[in-house]
Amino acid sequence: MRRRFVKQGWEVILVNDVRSARHQLHDKLLRPLVVLADMILPDGNCLDLLEGLKQQNQPIGEWILLTAYGSISDSVRALKLGAHDFLEKPVDDARLDMAIQRATRSARAQRRLSNEVASRAARYGIERLIGHSDRIVEIRQIVQQIAQTNISALVLRGDTGTGKGLVARILHYAGPRAAGPMVEVNCAALPGELLESELFGHEAGAFTGAKGRREGLFEQADGGTLFLDEIAEMDLALQAKLLKAVEDRKIRRVAGNQEINIDVQIISATNRDLEAEVADKRFRSDLFHRLSVFQIELPSIADRPEDLEELVKGFVDEFNERAQTGITHIPQDVWTQLKSYSWPGNVRELRNVIERCVLLSRGPTLEARWLQLNTAPQRQPHRDENGIFFPLDGSISLDQMERRLIEESLFRQQGNVTKAAKLLGISRQTLRYRIEKHGLDPEPKI
Ligand SMILES: Nc1ncnc2c1ncn2[C@@H]1O[C@H](COP(=O)(O)OP(=O)(O)OP(=O)(O)O)[C@@H](O)[C@H]1O
Ligand SMILES: [Mg+2]
Repeated sequence: MRRRFVKQGWEVILVNDVRSARHQLHDKLLRPLVVLADMILPDGNCLDLLEGLKQQNQPIGEWILLTAYGSISDSVRALKLGAHDFLEKPVDDARLDMAIQRATRSARAQRRLSNEVASRAARYGIERLIGHSDRIVEIRQIVQQIAQTNISALVLRGDTGTGKGLVARILHYAGPRAAGPMVEVNCAALPGELLESELFGHEAGAFTGAKGRREGLFEQADGGTLFLDEIAEMDLALQAKLLKAVEDRKIRRVAGNQEINIDVQIISATNRDLEAEVADKRFRSDLFHRLSVFQIELPSIADRPEDLEELVKGFVDEFNERAQTGITHIPQDVWTQLKSYSWPGNVRELRNVIERCVLLSRGPTLEARWLQLNTAPQRQPHRDENGIFFPLDGSISLDQMERRLIEESLFRQQGNVTKAAKLLGISRQTLRYRIEKHGLDPEPKI
């Protein structure tokens, strides 16, 4: 066999017993695509070896097992352990080649996937959370600790832009579910019924417009993490259904009869004070307790001014690398402005400002003129009855454009949110959410 496979272009490592196989896989960290093994070897059963490797979560490639005995119990065990194929001896060459081909294809796909997971995990490593303030140091420790356990639910609290989304990803990719999916949904972005069918899926004909059957986000997140962003915006009826799903670890699609088991970790995020929402009866207290097995509070920049410098430098480095720019100097007047600004949009706003400055500055100095923090008078967009015009020269950020568009629509509809939402082509709920996000007052002011 060895000669045959070498001729086919394989690199072959041949061992004669379990002990030497273990030595190769374990001590020498051999990572074969395919393992072809006799089931019964002189010093033991190779399924014991497979089981040991599995328990240690080692990448093991695809296993094809050969046996002369064809024992049923062993073949069942082999399949349970994830063996790829099971061939009875004597095996004819064509069958063996086919089995090897299939196993190779599957092992390659697996390897690609685990490389992707590894690179995503690297992208969301704990070191991405910048800061040395007491709070951030503590959060880094907590996050690392939590990531090592299989915690069922957790709530992230923090104002807009404080890093809730970032921490959720770090938690997922540092945890035992990293190889599973990370599925995200913004509870404020969809009205109640739509969100329900998004979360739980639906059967064909569940409601007008529900064409086929659809798998919900819970099912998609099975084995991984479901990230419920803006959880406080979920309506009470749906909160009850969510509670049931979390408690039973089972869901039912909308208009479906069948119960589907789900195994998901739920990370929720909110910029509201959930306890206060509970006290005001806008959030179910039983659901709150279910979801907040653990709570992490993310501080705003104003609460940790000592981190500003590190954040700025971190983002300058990040965008320098991305845009191939070489900003090396941050002048004193820039620091003064950055430090005296209040950062209502927190790290997100800071990151956007630094991105703009890095991209627009010429030469090695971060130029103060691109900062354009709200303290300086802003260029007003031009408007007429047909619409509104924004200069695309970096003087207005996308966030500010959104804010201006919302202000303008509200103004044109005398503060009527429903009508303003129509102008923007979004739902009333979404507009409400955004009005709050930008800290706007629906009353016209312009
Ligand atoms: N401590 C931090 N270190 C480095 N980057 C951070 C930190 N906190 C936030 N960021 C970055 O700031 C941006 C905004 O963070 P994120 O989207 O996680 O905020 P959020 O709390 O989810 O805000 P929102 O409530 O508006 O959704 C992201 O690009 C994120 O990577
Ligand atoms: Mg977010």
